Amino acid sequence: MSFVKYSDFIQEGDVVIIHLNHNSTIPVKVQKGAQTQTRYGVIRHSTDLIGQRFGSKVTCSKGGWVHVLHPTPELWTVSLPHRTQILYTTDIATITMMLELKPGSVVCESGTGSGSLSHAILRTIAPTGHLHTVEFHQQRAEKAKEEFREHRVDHLVTVRNQDVCKDGFGVRGVADAVFLDIPSPWEAVGHAKAAMKKQGGRICSFSPCIEQVQRTCDALSDHGFDELSTLEILLRVHEVRTVSMPLPDFGPDFLNPSEPDAVKEESAPVHAAVTIKTTTPPREIPGHTGYLTFATKPRG
Ligand SMILES: C[S@@+](CC[C@H](N)C(=O)[O-])C[C@H]1O[C@@H](n2cnc3c(N)ncnc32)[C@H](O)[C@@H]1O
Repeated sequence: MSFVKYSDFIQEGDVVIIHLNHNSTIPVKVQKGAQTQTRYGVIRHSTDLIGQRFGSKVTCSKGGWVHVLHPTPELWTVSLPHRTQILYTTDIATITMMLELKPGSVVCESGTGSGSLSHAILRTIAPTGHLHTVEFHQQRAEKAKEEFREHRVDHLVTVRNQDVCKDGFGVRGVADAVFLDIPSPWEAVGHAKAAMKKQGGRICSFSPCIEQVQRTCDALSDHGFDELSTLEILLRVHEVRTVSMPLPDFGPDFLNPSEPDAVKEESAPVHAAVTIKTTTPPREIPGHTGYLTFATKPRG
């Protein structure tokens, strides 16, 4: 098992995502002799996990059942242990697309935080790209290193424990893209520019407040970035409903006066209705996480 390569069968040392239902998933490191408690009963790793196919339905000791899934960045995002605020898949999808990430891309990121975005970047840039991620909180940096090793993506990532605003990313002239998720991104824009390849490349900064966005935009312009744009990505859930609607009354059919019903209908309207399935969007959309500001380093 690796977060960047699918395998069919669960082995000792793998990470498995125990899927209880759509709102409840537990990441588990598989170890011979170990057990995991769930509300449906115990899962015994040696008999219930090792040797089973990823995706299998496993019956727990109390008779309830779960699915044992191969890890993906999306499943990791909804089940990882939070050490910080994290980015979710709606923002991550936009970041990946707008930064034009692809296999082979070299990316710089700060801060690493809980590694939610890092895992998605790694899956996208594998098997030949590289992620340079900077985190100034020592324990978070160490924990991220440990997780990347356990998830077998450590060959694709370098974690640096330093202050990106003071010491930069530890590389110069190599990055195709830079991502910032720190409280004062404007202080890191100069270091981001230095880390990027000489010409071209994309940058993105995530900030919860519009005042931070304004300062970042000023810094990006001062450093010569162009094509600035700021997006807020909101997930709009449509609820499916069954509704009855009256059939519209278009009046008598004057184009076909020989039709006797045309006159009758005028005096006796028909109160017919149709039942249809439709969706209703919410009146308000909660879920502001932050603003994504993108810019391009000019070519030449
Ligand atoms: C909100 S978290 C990042 C979450 C991450 N994007 C994720 O998806 O899991 C911000 C992180 O940036 C780190 N940080 C803040 N300022 C920093 C700086 N100047 N240099 C390096 N790391 C910094 C914090 O310690 C924190 O772990």
